[in-house]
Amino acid sequence: MKILVVGSGGREHAICWAIAKSPRCEKLFCAPGNAGIGSVAECVEIGAEAVDALVRFAQDQSIDLVVVGPEGPLVAGLVDKLDAAGIKSFGPDSKAAILEGSKGFMKDLFAKYNIPTAAYGRFTDHDAAIAYVREQGAPIVVKADGLAAGKGVTLCQSVEEAEAAIDAAMTDKVFGDAGAEVVIEEFLEGEEASFFALVDGKTALPLVSAQDHKAVHDGDTGPNTGGMGAYSPAPVLTPALAEQVKKDIIQPTIDGMAAEGRPYKGVLYAGLMISEKGIKVLEYNVRFGDPECQVLMMRLKSDVVDLLEAAADGTLDQQHPQWTEEAAVVVVMAANGYPGSYEKGTEIRNLNAAGKIDGVTVFHAGTKADGNRVLANGGRVLGVTALGTSVSDAQARAYKAVDTIDWPGGFCRRDIGWRAIERERGNA
Ligand code: AMP
Ligand code: GLY
Repeated sequence: MKILVVGSGGREHAICWAIAKSPRCEKLFCAPGNAGIGSVAECVEIGAEAVDALVRFAQDQSIDLVVVGPEGPLVAGLVDKLDAAGIKSFGPDSKAAILEGSKGFMKDLFAKYNIPTAAYGRFTDHDAAIAYVREQGAPIVVKADGLAAGKGVTLCQSVEEAEAAIDAAMTDKVFGDAGAEVVIEEFLEGEEASFFALVDGKTALPLVSAQDHKAVHDGDTGPNTGGMGAYSPAPVLTPALAEQVKKDIIQPTIDGMAAEGRPYKGVLYAGLMISEKGIKVLEYNVRFGDPECQVLMMRLKSDVVDLLEAAADGTLDQQHPQWTEEAAVVVVMAANGYPGSYEKGTEIRNLNAAGKIDGVTVFHAGTKADGNRVLANGGRVLGVTALGTSVSDAQARAYKAVDTIDWPGGFCRRDIGWRAIERERGNA
């Protein structure tokens, strides 16, 4: 098979790395890719959002399967255009990707199909939004309706903060069109967990559990990022809870989407809040998490191409993926200053030595090749990933590799996986 992966992050490096291991893959392209992806796939200089150019390339190269990494091209209709051109793809079309593209749509779907979630209101009128937060009181959550690069959510401790968040989105338009509508939500307490399932329009095939760390600093403090690390398995999601999530949240969503004439295919990534009062879904993403994908790909023993193709073909009910019992940890190394402003172009050394440590694979995110040198080219730059007999063993290997990498321009958290490790040690 000839396969094209779309994207340039650590997630796409992990997907390419897994696909490259498949005996079914004869030729692998990645658009646009990065320095690390270049070692397992041929990188093509087409941006992930350049929908028409991607379709043309797939036609010209007679690609058999396109695997779309990020949400942008999914919401923009890449899969719709590939379908029209008769090219098979992994990912939802734009009618289904609206689950991530519009939080208002998503919340209305939850309400219509009795899917447990935070109470909410949807507003296109600024004064009505202000009146709603005054009536509800704080804490409360203000969200831009559309895609806002992960920055559209404000957790507000006071009514004044909520009013400021509404002003920023609706009056100052800091998220552009994405903030023309806002969703205002009940603030939920609890422990967050992620749930990933492959979906083929009707069947959900849950993957092993994985959990990320969104905050930039140790102890889950500081501003939120795209994710500073992840681990798998995530003990918070016990097998019994996972079964409940599938029954009460995932399957009703898939059935609801089909009933709405928006059958969902691809990977469905649910953000959950778990508390004594039960499980609620905070949000859906229509793509793999990054960096959660890195630990999932490390633990997958089955052929990933079989799974991705079955999701596209509607035959997931025949798939039985095998996973290693080992745990995996990914530590993200980011450019100093991230998630604020940061420098590009600093050199990263000793990557080969780090990758030779037992159990370790270094996935690249924002990197760029410059001859034999590897330069930082983004905020999140590397995903140093390791397998181990337990989360603490995998963590130790990952940090050994981190400490081997010579990159004064970058930093990482030192506590990735801490919740799982506390549970392993019996302290939680
Ligand atoms: P979202 O992009 O909707 O997942 O929101 C980003 C982050 O904000 C989530 O991962 C949670 O940490 C937090 N969050 C979102 N919605 C709520 C809520 N209703 N209550 C508490 N925290 C929330
Ligand atoms: N790691 C969180 C995300 O991919 O959205």
